[in-house]
Amino acid sequence: MQGTDPHGLIEAAREAARHTYSPYSRFPVGAALLCGDGTVITGANVENRSFGLTNCAERSALFAAVSQGKRDFRAIAVFCPQSEVPVSPCGACRQALSELCPNDMPVYYAGRDGRAATTTIGELLPQDSLHDLMKGRA
Ligand code: THU
Repeated sequence: MQGTDPHGLIEAAREAARHTYSPYSRFPVGAALLCGDGTVITGANVENRSFGLTNCAERSALFAAVSQGKRDFRAIAVFCPQSEVPVSPCGACRQALSELCPNDMPVYYAGRDGRAATTTIGELLPQDSLHDLMKGRA
C-alpha cells in the first residue's frame, strides 16, 4: 500500500463532490477509490427526505466499484469542499470499507484547502477481529 500518490486521488474526490445531492445538509462530499487495475471510481453523497436513507460519498464510490466488478482496492480519498477541516469517514462507512478493503489501505481526507490527513482502514476501525476471516470470499 506504500507509495500511493494521494494528489490525483484527492483531485478526483474534489471533482466528484460536484455531483453531490445534498439539499438538506448542504454539505457536499466526494470520494475517489483507487482500484488495483489503476481505475478510479468516484462517488458523492446522495441524501433523501427520509434522512436515514442518505448514502455517504465513500459508500457511493465503494458500491459503484463493486457493482462494476472491482474487488481489489488500494486507496480512497474523501473531499469536503465546505469544511474548514478534513472529515474522516463516518462509522457506517468505516464498516462498509472494512468489509472489502485491506487493513493497511491508505485513507486520505481533506477539507476545502485540499490538505489531506492520512490514515488507514485498520486505524479507522481497530480491533476488527472478523476482518481477515472474510478475506477471499465472494
Ligand atoms: N457525509 C459523507 O458523505 N461522508 C462523510 O465522510 C461524512 C458525511 C455526508 C452525509 C451527509 O449527506 C452529509 O455529509 C452531512 O453529514
